[in-house]
Amino acid sequence: MLVRGGSIVTPEGVFRADVKVVDGRIAALGEDLSAAGVDEVLDASGLLVFPGLVDEHVHMREPGLEYKDDFTHGTMAAALGGVTTVIEQPNTLPPVDEPQKLVSKAALLKDKAYVDFALYGVLHDTNTHLMEDLLGVGAVGFKVFLGPTTGNIPPPSEGSLYEILSKSSRLGVTIAFHAEDHQLVSYFTNLVKSSGRLDPQAHEDARPPIAEELAVMKLILMSRRTGGRVHILHMSSREGVELLKEALWEGVNVTGETCPHYLTFSSDDYPKYGTLIKVNPPIRSNPHREALLKAVNEGVISALGSDHAPHAREEKMRSVWDAAAGFPNVQTFFPVILDMALRGLIKLTAIPKLASENPAKYFGLWPRKGSVRVGSDGDLVIVDPNGKTLVSEEWLQYKHKVTPYLGWELRGEIKYVVLRGHVIVRNGRLVTAEPKGVWIKRSSS
Ligand code: DOR
Ligand code: ZN
Repeated sequence: MLVRGGSIVTPEGVFRADVKVVDGRIAALGEDLSAAGVDEVLDASGLLVFPGLVDEHVHMREPGLEYKDDFTHGTMAAALGGVTTVIEQPNTLPPVDEPQKLVSKAALLKDKAYVDFALYGVLHDTNTHLMEDLLGVGAVGFKVFLGPTTGNIPPPSEGSLYEILSKSSRLGVTIAFHAEDHQLVSYFTNLVKSSGRLDPQAHEDARPPIAEELAVMKLILMSRRTGGRVHILHMSSREGVELLKEALWEGVNVTGETCPHYLTFSSDDYPKYGTLIKVNPPIRSNPHREALLKAVNEGVISALGSDHAPHAREEKMRSVWDAAAGFPNVQTFFPVILDMALRGLIKLTAIPKLASENPAKYFGLWPRKGSVRVGSDGDLVIVDPNGKTLVSEEWLQYKHKVTPYLGWELRGEIKYVVLRGHVIVRNGRLVTAEPKGVWIKRSSS
């Protein structure tokens, strides 16, 4: 296929070029490429061409939690939102903590994937000896939960953490962390609960910044001593970002991710959205939001992930202490970031690095995924910057459309999504009859 006349958005700048995809891979980039032998020409004049997004942080819930959502709905949503690769989190049922479980999960998901997918394994106290075997069957990275959240996977001891990061250094594999200190979260949760508070913002105070700060501090120290590759997910606080910035200056092997909701919402929104915006770590006050935005713009935070975390409607519509944490995000991930860029809050050219290239690099998928360059997979999102996206029930593919973004009108409109040379979305509609996604394992490069 040939994408003609578009402006390609890359980390280095925006360039006018055609893109030719042959047998699923980008075969040529340049002006006025010939259409000879091509099955389809997409006219992208006046449109922006991005690399397909690599969402490094989705919880699609299958297997075991399909009542919340499933891989079919989740990857259809991803496709419509311009995400062509998802890296699926391991807190499904059973948790992905043994090689056989990873293999079975991949086998289950592979015929349901509307976009390409890769899998995390999870590490805890009793399976650190399985790291090599999990990598051997195709895990692209590992998740470690330091704090409590959906699935209640217990945090590893300090000894196991040291071992995990020592092995990470030897094996060159990224360990992604839910960085909230378990004991501090328990302490503050008990304190705030016993005060009798029931307002949705109580959740913020039950998991204060110091819980993130302590976890981040510990991870930086462990990485400094072991050389382990630490990636801190869903950073939510000014304090966490300050520690990350210092560690980067020092050259510690650590990177950070945040999610669009920490940049779009603040604690001022609890009265309006209530438990809809309950998420772990919590959405905090405006100074935190501003510090996170600054960190993204300065490159201190180098990745964005959606933390797509769907729950059943009933689970979200409970009191603050009983409501589930998280909400579905994969479909609005790119539209929300694009809207931010079109409003001048982040640079347009930062998007490919933050949401495609770096996530692909951190999890061993680059250069196959994450860049518009010759030899990479032909995964593209083609966008009209002058169009609009209405986040409507009809557009959203989730089983439970419980998202605070419902009804939002965003700048920018996805016209086409291309997965390895197949047009899977056309004018905002999924046009692929059957799922075309494949399981991507870690590349050795
Ligand atoms: O709010 C959250 N929900 N945060 C997480 O880290 C996990 C996620 C989930 O799986 O529900
Ligand atoms: Zn998550």
